[in-house]
Amino acid sequence: MADKVIIFDTTLRDGEQSPGASMNKDEKLRIARQLERLKVDVIEAGFAASSNGDFEAVQTIANAIKDSTICSLSRANDKDISRAAEALKGANSARIHTFIATSALHMEKKLRMTPDEVFEQAKLAVRFARNLVADVEFSPEDGYRSDPDFLCRVIEAVIAEGATTINVPDTVGYAVPELYGNFIRNLRERIPNSDMAIWSVHCHNDLGMAVANSLAGVKIGGARQVECTINGLGERAGNCSLEEVVMALKTRRDYFGLDLGIDTKHILAASRMVSQTTGFVVQPNKAVVGANAFAHASGIHQDGVLKARDTYEIMRAEDVGWTTNKIILGKLSGRNAFKQRLQELGVQMESEADINSAFTRFKELADLKSEIFDEDILALVSDEGVTHEQEQYRFVSLSQRSETGKHPYASIVFTDNGEEVKISSDGNGPVDASLKAIEAHVNSGAEMVLYSVNAISGSTESQGEVTVRLQNSGRVVNGIGADPDIIVASAKAYLSALNKLQSKADRVAAQG
Ligand code: KIV
Ligand code: ZN
Repeated sequence: MADKVIIFDTTLRDGEQSPGASMNKDEKLRIARQLERLKVDVIEAGFAASSNGDFEAVQTIANAIKDSTICSLSRANDKDISRAAEALKGANSARIHTFIATSALHMEKKLRMTPDEVFEQAKLAVRFARNLVADVEFSPEDGYRSDPDFLCRVIEAVIAEGATTINVPDTVGYAVPELYGNFIRNLRERIPNSDMAIWSVHCHNDLGMAVANSLAGVKIGGARQVECTINGLGERAGNCSLEEVVMALKTRRDYFGLDLGIDTKHILAASRMVSQTTGFVVQPNKAVVGANAFAHASGIHQDGVLKARDTYEIMRAEDVGWTTNKIILGKLSGRNAFKQRLQELGVQMESEADINSAFTRFKELADLKSEIFDEDILALVSDEGVTHEQEQYRFVSLSQRSETGKHPYASIVFTDNGEEVKISSDGNGPVDASLKAIEAHVNSGAEMVLYSVNAISGSTESQGEVTVRLQNSGRVVNGIGADPDIIVASAKAYLSALNKLQSKADRVAAQG
């Protein structure tokens, strides 16, 4: 095997820091399982010390995931590091990722510490972490904007203390590829013990160059770990996108000459899962996972592809999980066909009871919709395995009236802690009327910060998938609902968001 690039996924930590993308423990566990299926080498599961919710998420993932290394972020202090180690206790392979800012700007304005104090704290943190786990990553935050001389001093010291991975973050997305690649190469050349650690890149996408910068860090700088997120999720313009960097390294192996452990056929399912869970829609022209990524609209391209695929295709759609047989099942399909399709789509259900419940919902959907697409199946199972015990509200039925010239009106039935509630309202449109009816009973006072409708399989026969993002008392949650009737999907999404707002789970997003 040639040199290998370690793929470090931080969707559940840096990705989750994106406003509105916070996920609960069950959602994080489902995504972690999909990352394990993808054969991601390291999963950064959260920031254990930042909240009880994050601690529990890291702990749950560490106990459940066997094949990937599980990592927790931690500031460079004993309290945070101990908390990370505690959360990671059950992991087969655990990593603590500790960080402290090293740029003059961050040290002076944010930390209010002198460079010497930062130097000492970085050393002590790595020493402390190494006493708890064998695998310790150190990040000088805002590393790319730090003074190279100071960075050399800090990195040499933390490697001497036992740091096994050195990550060089471009925290604010300021780098350009050639300069970033040279920056890392220069550090590696100047630091006498640099070969005692694996070097890692961590790029933000503020100037749209996170993937290019990461690749330059690998090619020019000699980094052998890339930190990235599914769909490039992350604060502001996001992080380096996993699917893009992986497919670039794989497709241009002739140029990079590097191997990866990733099972790329699970990429699309991972992308959809993250998009459905967070409500961050994937743009149609997004590389690799966008709906148009492999669609050839022009006659010349179509003709070429039919004659020989590689005239216009540099990757095979199937290699990243796109399927060609789109119409898959109907109302006569049996449980075995359904189960097999789930397996082909990379969906693993934990128990026969989960499969049975998904199959019942599949049959209900097949009664409403003659053709069931892969996308329908994925939407159907998107919250399977997610605990429903804390669900206070459940959708039962809805009727609504909308007619040109008349005021839209909706009447909805749902349960509140098992008690049936029937309530109606008018509104600007049928969706508005339905949600107002729910709100008239619930009185949540939440502010809606996002409402989006997406046709799951791209036609009018499709199910509508609705995402509702609510904000209340500093908490932001996403609710998702799918149904062939978009008004029903909207009501389901709203109730799902309200359930999350009610849940006691501590959901404060981590601070990096
Ligand atoms: O962007 C950044 O600097 C980070 C660090 C905590 C690694 O996310
Ligand atoms: Zn980051």
